[in-house]
Amino acid sequence: MYFKKFDHPGNFVFDKSFDYQMEVLGDDVFKLTVESPRWHDNFSQAELDEAAFANLPSRAELQVSEYSLSLQAEGGSLLQSLPERMFGVAGSKWMFCFAHRPHMQFYGLGEKNNGFEKTGVRSKFWNTDVFADFHMHQIETGVTDPMYVSVPYLLVKQGNVYCGILADNPFDAFVSLRAQERIENQQGVATEDYFMLGSTDGRPTLYFIYGPSLADTTRKLQRLCGCHARPPLWALGHQQCRWGYKSARELAELDQRYRQANIPTDGLWLDIDYMDKFKVFTFDPVHFEQPKREFAELRRKGRRSLVILDPGVRIEPGYPVYDSGRQENVFCRNREGGEYVGFVWPGATVFPDFSMPEARDWWARQTAMMLGKSDLDGFWLDMNDPSTGSSVLDEMLFQHGQREHGSYHNQYAFGMQKATFDGCLRHRPERRPFLVSRSGYISTSRYSAVWTGDNIANYYHLRQSIPMCLNLSLSGIPFCGPDVPGFGGDPTPGLARDWYKAGFLFPFFRNHSIKNARKKEPWTFDRETCGVIGHFIRLRYKLIPYLYQLFVEHEQKGDPMLRPLFYEFDDSDELPLGMIDDQFMVGSHIMQAPFVEPGTRSRRVVLPGAGSWFDPWSGQWFDGGQTITVRRDRRTTPVFIRAGAVIPMLRQVPDISLQPELLRDLELHVFAPPEARTALQFSYQADDGESFAYRQGKVSETIATIRIDGGKTSVETKSVKEDAGAVKFTVKRNCLFEAMTES
Ligand code: NOJ
Repeated sequence: MYFKKFDHPGNFVFDKSFDYQMEVLGDDVFKLTVESPRWHDNFSQAELDEAAFANLPSRAELQVSEYSLSLQAEGGSLLQSLPERMFGVAGSKWMFCFAHRPHMQFYGLGEKNNGFEKTGVRSKFWNTDVFADFHMHQIETGVTDPMYVSVPYLLVKQGNVYCGILADNPFDAFVSLRAQERIENQQGVATEDYFMLGSTDGRPTLYFIYGPSLADTTRKLQRLCGCHARPPLWALGHQQCRWGYKSARELAELDQRYRQANIPTDGLWLDIDYMDKFKVFTFDPVHFEQPKREFAELRRKGRRSLVILDPGVRIEPGYPVYDSGRQENVFCRNREGGEYVGFVWPGATVFPDFSMPEARDWWARQTAMMLGKSDLDGFWLDMNDPSTGSSVLDEMLFQHGQREHGSYHNQYAFGMQKATFDGCLRHRPERRPFLVSRSGYISTSRYSAVWTGDNIANYYHLRQSIPMCLNLSLSGIPFCGPDVPGFGGDPTPGLARDWYKAGFLFPFFRNHSIKNARKKEPWTFDRETCGVIGHFIRLRYKLIPYLYQLFVEHEQKGDPMLRPLFYEFDDSDELPLGMIDDQFMVGSHIMQAPFVEPGTRSRRVVLPGAGSWFDPWSGQWFDGGQTITVRRDRRTTPVFIRAGAVIPMLRQVPDISLQPELLRDLELHVFAPPEARTALQFSYQADDGESFAYRQGKVSETIATIRIDGGKTSVETKSVKEDAGAVKFTVKRNCLFEAMTES
């Protein structure tokens, strides 16, 4: 696999006639497939819900003739194929080329660190173990493309009108977005004004999604690919991990340290060292006498325990997981019909073939058995790119050796997510599973969150974490987040503070570290830094009802939790928002503009929209539609709250961890300028935070009507239902953050 060589239209033939099949799925979503004996199948196992659009009227039109494709809406054309070069082939490879227009901007592409807006980018989709495939030098401050997750989804922005193109294709797909051709280290050569999307194999299957707004486009994409179900409430709390923790005793020590530091934390995570010789689905007998009892004890103390699962199974006759996998014939094969062998932590390993239902069933049984002996709260799924060490990937074949590696490579993690999810449900059908995966594919959100893999404790990675997670959020994987304060390397206290301040409202929020780096738990930094970290963790806990509500709404409507500014506000020539990659919205009411460069004393902050913004540290109001300068401050970070926001917060930050009943004892924080006269409607949903009973309607729903008349605030609440218990609100107006988390 060449990461830096790309297919060029010059080597493709564009004048062949093909059988294009176009389907209007409804609600401005279209499906285009190309039939030809060149492609027998599309091979994608993504779970796309086409029926979700049935019968809804469309305003847009996708017109496809033999040599031209155009997406028409709003009385004009949004996408137009390149004249004479709509669809080209080169053997099994194919590409669609589109005319580029000057005001087009590109986003999406799943998990990439090649910038926020993607004009000029060429990129491949091939799940990659970044530390194994790139030099540390490049990893530290460069672009490592491709990365762990492959979602060939291109979002096209034209002013305030959006459309998306999803290639439902599991092979190494590629895009070139008005990129220049070049000889390395030489000047680029300007090429025709086009952008293209293609793949090396698999029946071409594209979905065209017309918005017109970004919210519409993203909601439709999520409807197609699947939304993330409500996670267990505790999964939104702070998480603590480190490569090197190996026993429940160490987790119990963490519990103690977090208590002493007075910092709430929900999840305590074990990396590979908890296993017996790194054998998946085992516990090291030296460190674990009775895993179930030990994890139950932690749960009693208010902590959740999670362990890592790697797909590689150690080759060791007598090891029941290996023996049963062999017996049931679930491992990937090599070209000579033997089991494909790779090298991961346990040494020589074989790999479950998650493309086969029987292998997923086998893995689900192992997972359920593991839960039976431990009753763990969740899993993180690692090395599922898949990572095979020094062993050549192409020799790993699927479906009993019948399928080439490329047809399933990008889906490997997805199969593992699905099987593990199933195993969790088999153990406790009523409990919401919680999985976080390194690699992923289209539809990953149906089963798992993702963390952005092995980052480095430096400002480059801190800064990149924002555009990466924003683009993941626009590509159908909104439950995401980086390792804070950076996995590899030693963060300075300043970086640790800045990373916590920038990341404290990301959907996934975990402190994790590589083995050979300095300790990164909050108390291992100086007192002041630990204080600042603790403050921002507590502030997240204060805001948990708001975050949880974003997940509730995500499942219902499809909006991501993190959003670029242009998700919420119209873009304009006076205040262009399309390139702002160091500010972001958390839901539609909170905006962050963190410091992501070392040593800067101040930064510019764009305040979009016509309404005003509240600074919850100073209590000052600012008019929207302007750019202001804010000064760096050790204890705060630039956060702005939109006028008219109603933000549910916990009445009290818990000392230890989240308990579902906290969702029913709330402060309703209302933000409106002193002179405002307005009425605000707010609806809130609480549930048990743990089970699927909400799907049967076991929720409590309250609607609050807030009337603001200058300095006066009055509230009327109406309880629609109380099936998950009564919800209590205290209303507060324009409160400052500092006071909220003092303990
Ligand atoms: C690679 C993962 O990305 C990292 O988070 C983990 O600590 C190591 N594998 C060891 O399991």
